Amino acid sequence: MVAVTYTVAFHGVEARPVEVQCAVAPGLPSFQIVGLANKAVSEARERVRAALDALSIALPSKRITVNLSPADMPKEGSHFDLPIAVALLSALGMIPQEEIGACVLMGELALGGDLVQVAGCLPAALTAASDGRSLICPKASGAEAAWVEAAAVFAAPNLAAVLHHLTGQNLLELAQPGEVTTGQSAKDLSDVKGQERAKRALEIAAAGRHHMLMVGPPGSGKSMLAARLPGLLPPLSPAEALETSMIHSLAGLLDEGGISRERPFREPHSTASMAAIIGGGRSAKPGEVSLAHNGVLFMDEFPEFPRHVLETLRQPIETGEVMVARANAHVKYPSRFMLIAAANPC
Ligand SMILES: Nc1ncnc2c1ncn2[C@@H]1O[C@H](COP(=O)(O)OP(=O)(O)O)[C@@H](O)[C@H]1O
Ligand SMILES: [Mg+2]
Repeated sequence: MVAVTYTVAFHGVEARPVEVQCAVAPGLPSFQIVGLANKAVSEARERVRAALDALSIALPSKRITVNLSPADMPKEGSHFDLPIAVALLSALGMIPQEEIGACVLMGELALGGDLVQVAGCLPAALTAASDGRSLICPKASGAEAAWVEAAAVFAAPNLAAVLHHLTGQNLLELAQPGEVTTGQSAKDLSDVKGQERAKRALEIAAAGRHHMLMVGPPGSGKSMLAARLPGLLPPLSPAEALETSMIHSLAGLLDEGGISRERPFREPHSTASMAAIIGGGRSAKPGEVSLAHNGVLFMDEFPEFPRHVLETLRQPIETGEVMVARANAHVKYPSRFMLIAAANPC
């Protein structure tokens, strides 16, 4: 019998729906995952096997095949564990198929069956809401996903709780959204003594969202001024806060699901790699320019940054978006930031 569950795969800030199909057929005992899964997804096999063991559920001596559809879309991350485990339980007849059609599942399984926090639950909840489904995610990610009011979000501590929820024995409670921190920065421009022209320039830059270059000898207060810029800017609007939080959710940076209304302030070091600043790497993660979306990107010791990194800043500065290219996909991240650069004349 074939069972189907739903989850998502990430493409930039977008969470695309993925169907997890599981077939249990007679044949030599095996457990296979197909559908362009990377190493973290293939390893789900061992975690699912151990987590089911912990629930005293033995895998049948049959051929188990899991297909992640659409099969031509690359899939990354450990959040496929839960949908695979639930599809398998359903294929074994332990969870009714009609229950799992109405929810999107994501979560990493520990060997003991506990659900471990995964990145990206906020965009996943948006996708679930647009498909009219609920989201079941790890308890630690619930507060973040619950920000999407249109989706019912259930946060489960372990696989057993998900099993009880889906079989109707013990329903999970709806997750509550995390704190909104209004984030009035503790740093104030009045801490800066003198420097009237620099302060005025900073205020004009903040009012018009202009980029700014500060040149001055070491110890003249350049870093100090830059750090006070987020406090000058108005707090993020709710729409902006959600946009910024989506990127931070993908990077796993949201503390306890709290959404901050404070403008992000990112300060990459001049030795940071191109992938760290622009985005990319093997999984095309967002870089500092995207983490600073709607906020401030402060590049101290500007001339120390490698030339090719400075050149690639042109695209995000001009368009407010950055294209991260990897072997088989182009991912677009929003990156509208104020660039504050500082340099020593010596
Ligand atoms: N105008 C100023 N008002 C108050 N403190 C200052 C001022 N300029 C410098 N400082 C002090 O000197 C320290 C070093 O300044 P910093 O901002 O790191 O300089 P820069 O980045 O230009 O090298 C600051 O942390 C602050 O304590
Ligand atoms: Mg400095």
